[in-house]
Amino acid sequence: MKKMYLMPLIVCVAVCLAIVSAHAGHHGHSKPVKKGILLVAFGSTIPEAQVSFDNIDKATKAAYPGIAVRWAYTSSIIRHKMAQQGHQLDSPQVAMAKMVEEGFTHVAVQSLHTIGGAEFHDLLQTVHAFAYPGGFKRILLGNPLLATQRDIERTVAAIRKTIPAARKPDEAVVLMGHGTHHPANAFYAALMFQLQRQDPNVFVGCVEGYPEIDALKAMLKEKKIKKAYLMPFMSVAGDHVINDMAGDEADSWKSILTAAGITCVPVLKGTAEYKAFVDIWVDHLKGPLAHF
Ligand code: CO
Repeated sequence: MKKMYLMPLIVCVAVCLAIVSAHAGHHGHSKPVKKGILLVAFGSTIPEAQVSFDNIDKATKAAYPGIAVRWAYTSSIIRHKMAQQGHQLDSPQVAMAKMVEEGFTHVAVQSLHTIGGAEFHDLLQTVHAFAYPGGFKRILLGNPLLATQRDIERTVAAIRKTIPAARKPDEAVVLMGHGTHHPANAFYAALMFQLQRQDPNVFVGCVEGYPEIDALKAMLKEKKIKKAYLMPFMSVAGDHVINDMAGDEADSWKSILTAAGITCVPVLKGTAEYKAFVDIWVDHLKGPLAHF
């Protein structure tokens, strides 16, 4: 865990940046207060994802009754594909512009990202930009799933709750996160460290970042693991999960671990499909809304 000394700094940067506020100049003759919530997801073309988004929508409305909820999707590729299927989805910029037009004055934006990586910070810049004079009076961004130590503890509990009941303690659980070049990638190793304090046979790796599958394979071999449940640590079980985690090609995690003599049981359910994770995202709106 040589890289662990970076963690306090990274956690601080994520949290300090996430709760930002901006005032849109001096408007003595103010518009009436109108509060709104904007939920922002990466987006997905798979039907299961829409079920997850609907659940998050319901959970948000139940937690914050009387506050309008809008949605935006950051992936232009997904928005384009969905438009071809007849579903017009908004980017964060378009959704915020519409909310300005509708007269919203205070907006809490909630990222449905897992870590505060590059996409989260892009969203933060958009949030800042909409505090222009005549824009929102106040616009705040809630933290992603993993930002504070408390978030890591809650996520550890959520993961342990969603592990299939059939799994025995000497069998491994291997979680596939996305991973990134952004410094926030360190959260994955931090999460594994804290998971393993409670359950030594739960592992966290990334499809596009550290820890990579080869590192996990070595750890599983050291522990003489014979069977592993493969689970996504991504909000939606999309392309990476279906192909890179559970696919039949030689370079999928399932194939790599199977070739190493480990029996694999893939679970194709994203974190956004479980209430335990959704509750953490929804709770993160409390921070911004408390400032309105
Ligand atoms: Co990717």
